[in-house]
Order: sequence, then structure tokens, then C-alpha cells
Amino acid sequence: MRIRIHLILSLFLAFTLVALTFAYFHVQEEKRALRADLEKRAQILAESLEETIAPLVQQRSEKNLQRILERFGNRERLKGVIVYDKKGSPLASTRGLDGQVTLSPAVVAQAIAQKLPRGEFRLFGQAYMHYYILPLYQENQAPGAIAVFHDANYIEAQSGRIWRDSILRVSLQTLLIALITLLIIRWSFEGTISKTAQWMRELRIGSAQEKPSLPDKDMFKPLTQEVTQFVKSLAAARAAAEEEARLREAAESLWTPERLRVHVQNKLKGSPLIVVSNREPYMHVRRGKSTEVVVPASGLVTALEPILRACDGTWIAHGGGDADREMADEKARLRVPPEDPHYTLRRIWITKEEEEGFYFGFSNEGLWPLCHIAHTRPIFRSGDWEHYQGVNQRFASAVLEEMAGFENPALLVQDYHFALLPRLVKDKRPDTRVAIFWHIPWPNPQAFGICPWQREILDGLLGADLVGFHIQAHCNNFLETVDQTLESRIDWERFAVNRRGHFTLVRPFPISVSVAEPSSEASAQRTSVYVERGSLFKEMGIRATFMGVGVDRVDYTKGIIERFRGIERFMEKYPSYQGQFTFVQVGAPSRTHIKRYHDLFGEVEAEADRINWRFQTAEWKPIAFLGRHHSHKEIELYYKAADLCMVTSLHDGMNLVAKEFVAVRDDEQGALILSRFTGAALELGDALVVNPYDTEQLAEAIRFALEMDPEDRRARMQRMRRIVKEHNVYRWAGNLLTELSEVRLDRSAPVKEG
Ligand code: F6P
Repeated sequence: MRIRIHLILSLFLAFTLVALTFAYFHVQEEKRALRADLEKRAQILAESLEETIAPLVQQRSEKNLQRILERFGNRERLKGVIVYDKKGSPLASTRGLDGQVTLSPAVVAQAIAQKLPRGEFRLFGQAYMHYYILPLYQENQAPGAIAVFHDANYIEAQSGRIWRDSILRVSLQTLLIALITLLIIRWSFEGTISKTAQWMRELRIGSAQEKPSLPDKDMFKPLTQEVTQFVKSLAAARAAAEEEARLREAAESLWTPERLRVHVQNKLKGSPLIVVSNREPYMHVRRGKSTEVVVPASGLVTALEPILRACDGTWIAHGGGDADREMADEKARLRVPPEDPHYTLRRIWITKEEEEGFYFGFSNEGLWPLCHIAHTRPIFRSGDWEHYQGVNQRFASAVLEEMAGFENPALLVQDYHFALLPRLVKDKRPDTRVAIFWHIPWPNPQAFGICPWQREILDGLLGADLVGFHIQAHCNNFLETVDQTLESRIDWERFAVNRRGHFTLVRPFPISVSVAEPSSEASAQRTSVYVERGSLFKEMGIRATFMGVGVDRVDYTKGIIERFRGIERFMEKYPSYQGQFTFVQVGAPSRTHIKRYHDLFGEVEAEADRINWRFQTAEWKPIAFLGRHHSHKEIELYYKAADLCMVTSLHDGMNLVAKEFVAVRDDEQGALILSRFTGAALELGDALVVNPYDTEQLAEAIRFALEMDPEDRRARMQRMRRIVKEHNVYRWAGNLLTELSEVRLDRSAPVKEG
């Protein structure tokens, strides 16, 4: 109600102000026109009398003068005419004027002396009038003057009328506008606002059934989006609180975003959390005229994103999207996720040449194949190494900038792109707690020994207080490599390296994913697996009964070709599945600038074609290769619809696809075929663990997965889900940060090696 009164009052004031301003100018204009008209009339009248009157004034023929003046006495608005002699004394005047108006003889005499007509508006007693004096001429002499007097009161009366009309019009208009505004508010806003308010009230008290239909019009869009977002956050917070309560009840200790947030706050005691990775969590890319947000296909991003969301902090990463610059501020920062900001993303710009040497060259043609035993030779070029050092230095400067002004900041460096970063930061800021997590395997010392800069890499890593790997075997390999390469002392009991008095702990932290509980809304909307599968097959133009799925970046470490050969063998061995089973391979193109990756993409396509050629029919094929980037949402549809998921990496640090598949299957269905060369195989013992090089074994695993006793399948999935839920990514981050926060800081910068 108050808001309506405010609105109407404001409207009223605004309209009145505008209307009165217009009325004021209108009145001024009208007055000016009327006065000009009157002045003109007086002048014309005086001039028309001049010729007749001048000789009579010269002769001082008062009688004749009087007679002539009487003839003009009745003109409209004319009050009267007076004729003066040259001293300014009246000689004759029209009758109505007698005694009412006089002009001082001096005024008249002055006009005569100056030979200039003169006019003025002024009050004569109570009467507002205009007079006009015209000096007369007769034979180069000025015998006197004539003065014309007009009534000017009507000009003021006219102004008054305009004011009155304007005020009346304003009142009427304001009334109308107020009425229309009230009606618009009532029809357009109040309905939506009260619906939204009612919905939020029901949500607050927990009785909301479903989202009301809110208008999607331009004006309401931001509100609708914000409210919907708010409702989602509220639902998530409520679910988290319920989960916490349920766990307290069950005396369990599951890690949730809430728990991690509180834990990190306690452990870091207000110090900022800074994360560094090469890959950014959100890329802005141009699609025609618009800009799209892309979440890159990266296990690292999948794992770290929920942590930053929970804890806030700054994530420093390479800004690789072609529209990244325009979406960040002048300091290359922006808050993300774009639709629901929770933390800061600081983008680092690197040149094409640097990217070539640092990312494609040293990181992915050197370190990547060096650490993955997957039969691709590492290539080390000194130019790449120089760029690797340069870019590490650039990121280190950004890290130091972000932590300026804070004491004891915590730095989580990610992956093999930044082996030098821990040392670079630690040397400058010994009060920083530095951890680096190596997301890929660490090979044995002999394999690592072929890297020409192994000493520099190890020294860079040992600048950290904590080095993390997915599994203990990688920790052991790392410690052995350090032992055989650098001057240092290895404490095998504590799993630590002492190098020139600085201790680095080396620990396994098996990374994971976050497992979302299905919302009641999502559960209610869910159709059966068969319907979902059917519609996915239909989109691909395939008719089949069973579905297998694989989701990978197209990378030679992922064993995609080996997987296809396993499917081919399965079709040969069990022909009854021809026309029945289709394997959908979601393959995100990756690092295609590198020849080996570019070729691999073609090889994967060709292998799928070759196998399809052998078995396919008009409506069916054994392998559907979807070679493009898919969003998490799209991938989930395949995970949910599949009978089985195949992860056949030839060598992998963890492989989060295996855990993502388990996390998504809240229906407790689906079988997981998992390479024994992944970190995940150590945790997910209920998967069908295979050697991807063993084609026969792969074929058997597919058959077993499809024909498995449903109860067995459910029990396996239940156990795997329990493990992934308990060992989720929040626990990973919680453990890593706990270990890091307990590190004793050695504040003196380490002595440089001579
Ligand atoms: O496995 C190492 C890793 O950094 C993963 O975290 C991630 O899935 C993948 O490599 C991403 O590769 P890129 O960032 O080169 O596309």
C-alpha cells in the first residue's frame, strides 16, 4: 500500500512539475503576444490621428480637437486619447478619461523634445493600462503630442485563465495516469510478485509442491532467474543440512561442501586459498555473434570446481577462450561460476608461441608421455623448456600478486604444467604453505631419468611443503626418483624429503568427484532408463536394446582403440548381440594441435568405421563415435541410460570418468568395466577390472556385464557408490588441506645450491 502511495505521489509531483513548467512558458508567451498586439494597435491609432490633429494643435483649436477625439472614443479596449501642447499640458481628451489618467507634463515634454514615440504598461490608480505618446510634427515644428491609452487588464485576466486551465488539465491527467498505473501494477506486477512471494513462503516452511509458472518476459527475467537460483541454493543448503543431520544421527562422517567450508576456515584461519592450474574452469568462447561459457573436458576441473565453490578463494589459470579477455576486468579477474558466482578466477594471458612451447611442447609432448607408460615417446626440446620456465615464472608472479598483503596464504598448485612453481613462490614467500598435486602417474626413476631437466623439475617440486599423488605407488616412484637424482635425505618412515633443511611431505590423496543426491524434482521427472536410452538411440538413428558408454578426451593414454577392439571381439564371439548392443563413445577432441593427437582422432574414427563396416545393418551399428565436446549435462544422459561403462586407460593417475559414472547411477544400475592401470581400480574393487591390452578379456567383460545377475549388479553398484560417496572430492580436499595446514613452516628462504 505504502509503495503505491509513494508511486502515485511521485508521479503526481513529476507530472505537476512538468505541466506547470509548460504552463509558465505558455503564459509568458501569451502575455508577450498580447502586449505586442496592444502596442501595435496603439501605434497605428496614434499615427492615423497624427495628420488630422497636428495642424489643429499648431492652431490650438481645442474645440475641433475635442470633436475629432470624440469620434474615436468607442474603440475596443481603448480607454481614451489625450492631446498635449508642447509643454505637456492637455489640450483635449476623450470623455471617458476625464481626471482618471494623466501623464506628467515632464514625461510628455521629454518625448516631444527627443522626437521619439514612447510606450509603457503601468498602473493608473487601480487600472492597469498601456499608454503610447506620439510627438506631432507640423512644418518642422513639434507643436505637441498625442497619447493613446488602452486598458491592459484583460492581459492579466487571460494569463489567469491559462493557469487555471493548466491546473485543471494536470489534475485530470494525473488522476488518469495514477489510475492506469494502479491497474498496470495490479495486472502485471502484483500477480507475479505475490505468486513468487507465496512460492518462497511455502519453500521456507517446507510445503512447496512445485515451481509456479513465473513469466519469462524481459522485465521479469532477471528476477525469475535470481529467485530460481536462490530456490536452488536453498534446496541445496537444506539437503546438505539434512544430510549432515542424517550423518550425525548415523554417527558417520561424510564430507560435504558445508563441512569442507568450515574445515578450511578453521584450518587456514582466514588465510586466502589460491589454486593454480593450466586449464581454467570456465572458458568464454565466441559462437557467431554471441559468447558462450564452456566447461572444459577435464578431470581436474571436475574435481576442483566444487571445492572452490565451497571455500571461495582465487583460481589462477590460463585464459584460453577467444572471448576470455572481454569477460574479465582490467586485472584479468572475474567472479565465477558466471550464473552463480562463488569464487574469483584470475586469468593469465600467454602468447601463442609460449603456449606452443609450454603447453603443447614441454608439458604434453614431454612430461605427459614421460609419466604415462603408453608407448608414445616423449619429445624434449630446449626451446620448449625455456617457455616452460618462462610461463611458470609468469604464474608465480601472479600468485605473489594475489597473496600480497596476506599472511600465511595457502597455495594449491595443480599438475605437471607447474613443476617449477612451488620453488619460485617459496623462495619469495617462505610463509606460504605450498602443496602441489600431480594428477598424472609418476614413473619409475629409470623412466623419469630420460628427462634432460629432471634435476630442475625435482628441485622445483621440492619447493613445496606437500607433494600429492593419487596412489602410494606414485609416491614411492617419486621418492625413489628424488633419492637417485638429487642430494637429499629421504625419510621412508614419514614419507618425506629433507633437502637443504626444507621438508617436503609426499602423500597419496586419491582424488574423486562430488556425488549429488537426486532432488525430489529430478526424481519425479525421471523417465525409465529404457525410454531415455531409446530416445538417445533415436537421435543417433540407431535401433538397439543394450547400450555401452565410454567418455574420454581423445588421448592415446585412454585405450580407446583397445576398447574398440574388445567390442569387435565381443561381436565376433557373441553374434547374438549383433543388432542388439551399441557402444556410444563420447570423445572430446583434445590437444589436436599436437600431431600425435591429431592423428589419433583420425585413427579412432577409422577404427570405429572399420568395425562398423564389418557388422552394421541399415538401422544398427556396434560403435557410435560422438567426436565433439559434450557438456556434463549431456554426458549424464548417456551415463544414466547405459548398461555398462568402459574405462580402459593404458595408464592413468586416477580416471574420474569411472567415479563420475558411479556417482550418477543413483538407480544403482549399470556395470563398470575398469582398467587395472588406473588409480580408480584400487578403490573400485566391485568394477569388472580388466587389462585393456587383453582383447579377449575385454570381450568377456562386456558379456559378463550384460548378463550379470541383476542383484549382483545392484550390490556392486551400491558398494561402489558408498565408496565414492564417502571418499568424495570434499574429503580429498579436506585431507590435503589438513595435511598442508599442519606443516611446520620454515620461514627462512632455503640456501641456494652452489
Ligand atoms: O590428467 C591430467 C589432466 O590435467 C586432467 O586433470 C585433465 O583431465 C586433463 O589432463 C586435461 O587436459 P588438458 O587440460 O590438456 O585438456
